[in-house]
This record gives sequence, C-alpha cells and structure tokens, in this order.
Amino acid sequence: MTMTKEITVKDLNVVQFVEEKVKEISRTVGDGLAINALSGGVDSSAVTMLGHRALGDRLHTYFIDNGIMREGEPERIVAIFKKMGVNVEIIDAQDEFFSALKGVTDPEEKREAITQTFYKKVFGRLVKSSGAQYLLQGTILTDIDETIAGIKRQHNVFEQLGIDPQAAFGYKIIEPLVQLRKDGVRKVAQGVGLPEEIYHRMPFPGPALSARVIGEATRERIATVRAATVIVEEELAGCGAFQYMAILHQDRVTGMRDNKRDFGLQIEIRCWDSVDARQAHPTRLPYETLETLAQRILKAVPGVVSVTYNIATKPPSTIEAI
Ligand code: XMP
Repeated sequence: MTMTKEITVKDLNVVQFVEEKVKEISRTVGDGLAINALSGGVDSSAVTMLGHRALGDRLHTYFIDNGIMREGEPERIVAIFKKMGVNVEIIDAQDEFFSALKGVTDPEEKREAITQTFYKKVFGRLVKSSGAQYLLQGTILTDIDETIAGIKRQHNVFEQLGIDPQAAFGYKIIEPLVQLRKDGVRKVAQGVGLPEEIYHRMPFPGPALSARVIGEATRERIATVRAATVIVEEELAGCGAFQYMAILHQDRVTGMRDNKRDFGLQIEIRCWDSVDARQAHPTRLPYETLETLAQRILKAVPGVVSVTYNIATKPPSTIEAI
C-alpha cells in the first residue's frame, strides 16, 4: 500500500496543481487511450476536465445510466459538459443494474452489486471495446481513509483494498485527485472552468438512489424515491444545508386514501448541517417548509401516506439511511 501525501486546501495552488496533473496524465498515457466514467459529481467532473486537457479526444468519457440516478440527471450532465466542449457518451445500462439489484436487501450487498456491475460488467466491457489501457478515476483522500477505517465500502478504492485492478478488471487506474479532500477538489473544479452548479454540488452517494431505498431497489421503488427527491431538492435548494434527501422506507403504515384504508409507503426526509460529513445535525427547518414538503410529497408521489423528518444526530446516525 502506498502512502499518499495530502495537499490541504490551504497549500493548494490550483493553477500549478492543474498544470502538474495534466502533464502527469499526458506522460502516463503517452500515445494510448484512456476512458473515464462521469457521474456528474464534483470529483468525476474535475477528473474529466483534467483528462480532456491532457488527452483531448484520446480520453473517452462515458456517463453510465444505471437507472438509479436522480430525475433528468444524464441529460443535464451531458449538456453541461457539451458547453465545456467535452463530448460525453451516455451508456444505457439500466437493465444490468436492476437485474444485479434484484432481490438484494442488505446495504453492503447492494453496494457490492453496484460496484461489480459497474466495473466488471459495464465499464470492463467499455474498456475492452474502446481499446483503452487506462482508466481515470476521481478517488479522493477521504475515500481512502474511510475505506481503510472500514467505515464504509466506497466504490473506487480497489488498490487500497489490495485488489489489483489490472488483474481483476484488466486495466490501469490513474487517480489525479488522490491527494485532495473535497474542499480542494471543489477549487480544482472551479479552476478548470466548471460551472458553480458542479463545483458547489451537494454530496450524493455513488450507489445513488439505491442508497435512498431501504430494502430492495426495484425500478418502481426507485421511481418513488426519485419523485420525492425532486420535491425535497426543489423545496430545500438554497436553504444552506450540507445535504438533504428523501428516503423510502420498507415498512408500510396504514393511511387513508379516497376514504379507504391504505397500507401505504413512508418517506423520510433528512436535512443535515455539517462541515465534512463526519458529524452532522438535523437542520432546524421552518415548520412551514416541512408542511409544504409533506403536502407536496403526499399529493405527487403515488402510494405515500406518511412523511417524517429525521431529528437524530450523526453519530450515532449516519447521513444516508443505508
Ligand atoms: P454516511 O451515510 O456514512 O455518509 O454518514 C457520509 C457521506 O458520504 C456519502 N456516502 C457515500 N458516498 N458511496 C459514496 O460515494 C457510498 O456508498 C456512500 N455512502 C454514503 C453520504 O452521502 C455523505 O455525504
């Protein structure tokens, strides 16, 4: 295991960092081809820009549509990068992800199913068909720390786990952001010209909406949490919180709909104040905001009869519910 030297945000010279990383990527890839997967998060967005500066058309950027993204996400991200002069290809892999998630209810097994589908099936196939020898990836220092500490199985830290990606998946991985933490990456993202909606983006987990569904992540249950997520994100945009989300519970509760008893769905809303996600407090949202959220979700999301707001702190809670 190699030790990674941290560059703190205070020591980060963005212009110099970008220049060095662009040179390093060019030198490593040589005349070869590289590919990367863009999720639209700040890390993969920054890496995409660094890679394109270094390699131009010799970096092929894919957006893997795994079916568990937020509403309109693939189109939104592709449009942003088009404006930056970067061509991104959307790969529809929804069927593969949903079949891997079928019947899986355990949180870590869900993460594993997504990881394996992403690397071994979809992305592995793309690497082979593209002829690329290199994969650019947006791993940051916090991913490595948390994985080593066993806090959570992050999706992009194979080498740190002692897994050789060349042997396991058939390609070499380049991780230009691995000395930075999130605040540094945001600066780099801004420095390479990405818009504020990217460099100030709220954190969002790799396992996407499947992390927001307790129990099996079926197409239908993902659609439910996706619809609630649209409302939560609209209503809480600009509230200044660190992160906010809707969660679909597995337990059902009795409610009334059209004068009939209806054993319906429960949505939990979480909204967190936090600096670095290590500790977090529920935001003291105005009661009116909570009421509006509840009314909108009950009206717009089929089957929901209960909306709750989480008031527990992290720890012992976590930010996500799985
Ligand atoms: P927790 O739930 O551990 O989350 O308090 C801390 C921060 O990490 C994000 N998170 C994840 N990100 N893959 C990711 O890429 C994951 O499996 C994952 N789980 C949690 C979470 O959104 C929060 O910002």
